[in-house]
Amino acid sequence: RSIVILISGRGSNMEAIVRAAEAEHWPVSIAAVISNRSDSAGLDFARQHGIATAVVANKDYPTRELFDTALRAVIDGFAPDLVVLAGFMRILTTPFVEHYAGRMLNIHPSLLPSFPGLATHRQALAVGVKLHGATVHFVTPDLDHGPIVVQAAVPVLSTDSEEVLAERVLQQEHLIYPRAVRWFVEGKLRLDNGRVHIDPSA
Ligand code: GRF
Repeated sequence: RSIVILISGRGSNMEAIVRAAEAEHWPVSIAAVISNRSDSAGLDFARQHGIATAVVANKDYPTRELFDTALRAVIDGFAPDLVVLAGFMRILTTPFVEHYAGRMLNIHPSLLPSFPGLATHRQALAVGVKLHGATVHFVTPDLDHGPIVVQAAVPVLSTDSEEVLAERVLQQEHLIYPRAVRWFVEGKLRLDNGRVHIDPSA
């Protein structure tokens, strides 16, 4: 199997996936890391690991549709079995999402369906939840609402700042996202009629 990973910035989730794939000898080729920003720090990490990189800069395209068409062409040039959104900070058009139905995953830094969208840690602190976390889900046109694959919860402490809470959640992201991607590339995870199936032996 082969995967393409999309990032927008730091790329620490991408890094966790690449490191796990290498250390655990997954049956996978990481075909490319693609960013919508040429200054993404994660691109350097990918290059250092001998992974092909590409930049499709959204600022070069006047509309979301044109950007998504260009991005899709670059992704499909690598013919991946799975597209992994890892801190990819663009809203994708419905035709783009439907093209990758059942073969595109995202990680969101909250326990969905709570706190879709941006600033999830700020939202969690403002509401006063005692548990927060992260969710890996299949991507559907409804932003941050796709079928859930795996979640991890962390406590919210009364002393938490947004940054401290974000860091606690991020550590869990780095555990659950590699796990979900590994399940997919090993053929143990699939989406069937909108429902997530995970092989119990996984
Ligand atoms: C992660 O918290 C991800 O869940 C969110 O943005 C952050 C990206 O971090 N959408 P990184 O680029 O993977 O380090």
